[in-house]
Amino acid sequence: MSGAGSGRLTGKIALVTGAASGIGLATTRMFVSQGAAVVMSDINAEAGEAAAQSLRSDGGAVIFVAHDVTSEPSWIAAIEAVRAAHGRLDILVNNAGVGTGGSIEDATLEEWRQIHAVNADGPFLGCKHGIALMKQSGDGGSIVNIASVAGIIGAPQLAAYCASKGSVRLLTKSVALHCARKGYGIRCNSVHPSYTDTPMVDGMVDQHRAPDRYRLALEGASPMGRLGRADDIAGAIFYLASDDAKFTTGAEIVVDGGLTAT
Ligand SMILES: NC(=O)c1ccc[n+]([C@@H]2O[C@H](COP(=O)([O-])OP(=O)(O)OC[C@H]3O[C@@H](n4cnc5c(N)ncnc54)[C@H](O)[C@@H]3O)[C@@H](O)[C@H]2O)c1
Repeated sequence: MSGAGSGRLTGKIALVTGAASGIGLATTRMFVSQGAAVVMSDINAEAGEAAAQSLRSDGGAVIFVAHDVTSEPSWIAAIEAVRAAHGRLDILVNNAGVGTGGSIEDATLEEWRQIHAVNADGPFLGCKHGIALMKQSGDGGSIVNIASVAGIIGAPQLAAYCASKGSVRLLTKSVALHCARKGYGIRCNSVHPSYTDTPMVDGMVDQHRAPDRYRLALEGASPMGRLGRADDIAGAIFYLASDDAKFTTGAEIVVDGGLTAT
């Protein structure tokens, strides 16, 4: 793995939240392979430190910071860690998320608040504090918010999750318009995966009363007949983060094997 040289993100500084696992880890790997220096953050410090150590031993320019995206003081500390290490921020990926299920009749107010704390408050705080550091360098930047197809179409068993991801979708457009009108050169876009083969989906499958049947049903939900892979999602995030997407802001990219085309 090359952390420097002629990659498409060479010279860029990225902060990826929820980077210890799944889509965040795959995104970090892709960014590093394209020359970015990445600050990985996660609430799971043990897994995050281990992943960062492994990437560093392969030559990646990576550091890890412990970070709870639901907490504003924790965001201020994470952004300060980026500033102290690199003096600037070019790319922010608001990826950390949780995926508890429950219909409107089953979900509790406590579950609703917990899901929104991570999935909606997290990106809100990230955009707010990330923009402040991006503005300081004067070179613009790219924010990629990880939503879900469940932020575009409903799922009966995911009442709070759908609402939280719908929030991310329109937060993204509001941030994009604000930054465009202010002339900051900061773009903001959302990525909407369908079911993707990560520990989040493993957890859902394991909790189901018929795990094998449930996994097959998740695979069959996509017209392409399989789950997404973390790399599939990282590819879309990478595009939006890169200068190839320099005229793209306020947009949403579905990465769903055709699920929302039906
Ligand atoms: N896997 C899917 O099927 C799928 C589908 C659509 C959208 N997504 C979204 O993709 C993103 C990544 O999910 P994943 O599938 O890689 O899941 P994952 O569980 O593998 O990774 C999520 C990471 O977020 C971290 N995290 C959780 N709460 C946090 C907090 N308060 N502060 C900081 N970090 C926290 C976890 O420790 C974990 O490392 C999430 O926003 C998720 O909602 C996933």
